[in-house]
Amino acid sequence: MGQAVIETQNLTKLYDQKAVVNNLSFTVDAGEIFGFLGPNGAGKSTTMKMLLGLVQPTSGTGKVAGHDIIHDVLEVRKACGVLPDPYGFYENQTAWQNLKFYCELYDIHGKELEEKVNKTLDKVGLHDAKHKKVHKFSKGMKQRLGVAQVIVHDPQVMMFDEPTAGIDPQGAEDFRNLMLEMKAKGKTIFLTSHVMPEVEAICDRIGIIVNGEMKICGNVDQLVEQFSRRQGYQLRLRVKEIDEPVVRNSISGITGISTVARNNGFYVINASEDVSEDVSRAVCRTGGLVTELDVYRPTLNEIFLEVTRPVAAVKE
Ligand SMILES: Nc1ncnc2c1ncn2[C@@H]1O[C@H](COP(=O)(O)OP(=O)(O)OP(=O)(O)O)[C@@H](O)[C@H]1O
Ligand SMILES: [Mg+2]
Repeated sequence: MGQAVIETQNLTKLYDQKAVVNNLSFTVDAGEIFGFLGPNGAGKSTTMKMLLGLVQPTSGTGKVAGHDIIHDVLEVRKACGVLPDPYGFYENQTAWQNLKFYCELYDIHGKELEEKVNKTLDKVGLHDAKHKKVHKFSKGMKQRLGVAQVIVHDPQVMMFDEPTAGIDPQGAEDFRNLMLEMKAKGKTIFLTSHVMPEVEAICDRIGIIVNGEMKICGNVDQLVEQFSRRQGYQLRLRVKEIDEPVVRNSISGITGISTVARNNGFYVINASEDVSEDVSRAVCRTGGLVTELDVYRPTLNEIFLEVTRPVAAVKE
């Protein structure tokens, strides 16, 4: 484990007596990209706002870059760059002027300011629009400017609330590369997103919250493992040399196997654990040749849907 740059303990927020963030405890280490996922209304933005001192927690504590999120709000904000949802720009000012204003808040002036603003606008693909007023920007252009606003003052911690919502595929690809570049520089990145392949591609660890509670948290492999343990494993097997009854018979005694079906020349085996080694051995023992054997790996999207699926109401 590295050094925790974001940490919360039992962070809770009640609105109208209802917990929208409920006893949330997690850490994000230095240099990590953490994907914070959950359905609409799960409490992601509220959590991010509490981390930044924009919303007062009802109970619980947290630290960002070593600063207390309740008592050291100014220090927390100095350490962070943030893309909130919705973003707030001076619409009547240009992209350049908006970033200039932002740099000045962080005490960056003169030549350094000019260099930083120009370089950042180039990076997010707004070079040609830098002197255009923001109210004339498209949604995706505003989103790009939001990303620029996060990185322009080179903060240690970068937080993005749905950074690629409304961004075109090239912009999304640029964003992913930018995040990996920032990670390589040692930045700590916390982002919310509904774009599962993007999260799967760039995040070191992922947390999924539902109704304000963390349901699952870990790297993608750990999530897959937890999901499979809960949902069962599915193996695909292709065998030569022996016929179906022999195959079925050879694996029939293996503990954990619940069903065996045939599909497109494959045997599809459902099991409560990863029985691939047992299956391979059993088939060989009866003279079969295993030509393919793999364990199905669920996508993050499937894991998300399963974890966030509403539990069916129990009928009295
Ligand atoms: N200021 C507020 N007053 C009362 N309720 C609020 C307030 N802000 C948020 N909520 C409620 O808190 C819950 C969590 O909202 P939040 O914006 O944190 O969700 P989210 O996970 O960011 O969702 P989304 O994916 O739609 O952005 C929702 O039920 C929302 O209605
Ligand atoms: Mg939100």
